[in-house]
Amino acid sequence: MSPQRGGRRRVLVTAGPTRERIDPVRYLSNDSSGVMGFAIAEAARAAGHEVILVAGPVDLATPKGVRRVNVESAREMLSAAREAFSECDALFMTAAVCDFRPVRRLSGKWRKKDDGQERASLELVSNPDILASITRRKGGRLVVGFALETGDGLRRAKRKLEKKRMDYVVLNGPLALNASRTSVTILGRDGSQRRLTDRTKRAVAKELVGLLSPDAGR
Ligand code: CTP
Repeated sequence: MSPQRGGRRRVLVTAGPTRERIDPVRYLSNDSSGVMGFAIAEAARAAGHEVILVAGPVDLATPKGVRRVNVESAREMLSAAREAFSECDALFMTAAVCDFRPVRRLSGKWRKKDDGQERASLELVSNPDILASITRRKGGRLVVGFALETGDGLRRAKRKLEKKRMDYVVLNGPLALNASRTSVTILGRDGSQRRLTDRTKRAVAKELVGLLSPDAGR
């Protein structure tokens, strides 16, 4: 990471869900509200950093002083995040990226047949893994990812940290989605482990932005 004057850094935050179109009026998505990512963007700005926020479709106001790029699908997010990462010192990847998208996007509405059809199927294809893809050229940049796990996800979260070349992974559960408070465990590549219980997402965001300080230990 190249420290800028006064410890000021350029920070990329991704937030919200992605939306994968089936036809002009339907899509696949998830319950992510974007609140965690927007809180990180706001906290990073308040700490004096320059912030680029790549946001999926969410109903949230842009924090003051933050540069926002709106995207819809995972592929759009990949291209916006890749471009922004090239000029950033740190990445907080909070977006809940859809793992799959429909193989085909219909140009007209998907209609049911008139023959009393009771079942239909949708063919899906894998989306790119944005984090794994852009950290191939990570260098010394700080990378913080998230892992949403059900049950005891410690082992899976540690595996994701290695596989996606993160410095820290923030482990949380499904209760975090669409909620204002959350409990998380922050796992570091250095083996560190820190539990924050029942905090506001703003409070968690502030802790995470603290990882940008040179003395945070990485
Ligand atoms: N992520 C990403 N691109 C994807 C999927 C996930 O960049 N296509 C990022 C998320 O933003 C998060 C981290 O990877 O920071 C872990 O996300 P998660 O959904 O837990 O990981 P997956 O690899 O999709 O694992 P799972 O099979 O458990 O859903």
